[in-house]
Amino acid sequence: MVENNDILNQEEQNFAGAGRVYYFDVVLDSGKGAILKDVAGNEYIDLLASASATNTGHAHPKIVKAIKEQAEKLIHYTPAYFATSTEAKLASELVKLAPGDEEDWMVVFGNSGSDANDAVIKFARGYTGRTNVVSFVGAYHGSTYGSISASAVSLNMTRKIGPLLPGFYKVPFPSPDKRLPGESDADFSERLFAEFKEPFENYLPAEETAVIMIEAIQGDGGIMAPPAGYWQKVAAFAHEHGILLAVDEVNQGYGRTGKFWSFENFDLQPDLIAMGKSMASGLPLSAVLGRREIMQSLDAPANVYTTAGNPISAASALATLDVIKSENLVARSAELGKFAKKFFAKEQAAFDFIGDVRLYGLNGGIDIIDPETGLGGRTSH
Ligand SMILES: Cc1ncc(COP(=O)(O)O)c(C=O)c1O
Repeated sequence: MVENNDILNQEEQNFAGAGRVYYFDVVLDSGKGAILKDVAGNEYIDLLASASATNTGHAHPKIVKAIKEQAEKLIHYTPAYFATSTEAKLASELVKLAPGDEEDWMVVFGNSGSDANDAVIKFARGYTGRTNVVSFVGAYHGSTYGSISASAVSLNMTRKIGPLLPGFYKVPFPSPDKRLPGESDADFSERLFAEFKEPFENYLPAEETAVIMIEAIQGDGGIMAPPAGYWQKVAAFAHEHGILLAVDEVNQGYGRTGKFWSFENFDLQPDLIAMGKSMASGLPLSAVLGRREIMQSLDAPANVYTTAGNPISAASALATLDVIKSENLVARSAELGKFAKKFFAKEQAAFDFIGDVRLYGLNGGIDIIDPETGLGGRTSH
């Protein structure tokens, strides 16, 4: 019998620690649906869904079939030089997912959520001719130099690796713990929006700002969102000043929140949408959907990657969309989310180690706290 720790002890010799936030002594071996098995044969319910990368569950038969068939046909040719039929089909399906008229949108492909957010930064700068990028404290936008410069969720993402890219500014995120006792949605939104505007009133000219990058619901930050009214104010501010609004849907998109895109929970109209993770059910693939005129602002090879839009990932992405539609997974997330909300409300009343509970569809952030101090929950790593 193989033990998890045998492999972990061996791996520790070879695998650099910067590449993993360590939680459990588990080495995964297989997965089916929501169930994972480790090398010792223990089974787990996967509530993490590979950090939101497997919204359709593990090894969905339709997706496995699509991957196998594509592998037999064409494993790869780079979109940097030639279109492939699978990637082209996916591009035409993705623009249909954009808000409004599909003709108004275009898409570029990448390999990871991180490079999708880099593309957001490039296109926003290219289109507006402005350099500054605004994002939120608590954001995780990725680990490449562009996306890490927009992130602010862990000191280890800054420590020893600076200087990060210039022109990046962070504003406070209106997290639920900032709300004053009894404060209404409207008052909370107004007060935090005043904080949002402070940089623009003191040292950050709005007319030199290219893009405001948001996670409508912060994922790694702890599954947290402000009231819709707050995002409406930020969006109106962006619009008023010719600043683009980019929503990072890498973590919270693709049906997790009871809507296909998390921004639909807040009635937002983004200019740019970054996606990745679950779009190919875990195979490496990302994309940015953007308004046509923005996406036409840069020329090749400004955003070219050898393995972007890889046919196997693209085939998996097409099958993923098919599964999400045919199995009504978005509605299912909303429906089961109601059930989960009731369940956790009951548990919260029964157990003092359960702190704040936040659910959007079947996507939840449940704070585990020290009952004595009330501390715990979202801790930085
Ligand atoms: C919101 C968000 N954006 C971007 C990323 C980066 O994606 P990737 O790890 O695929 O580069 C993540 C990853 O956790 C994320 O949660």
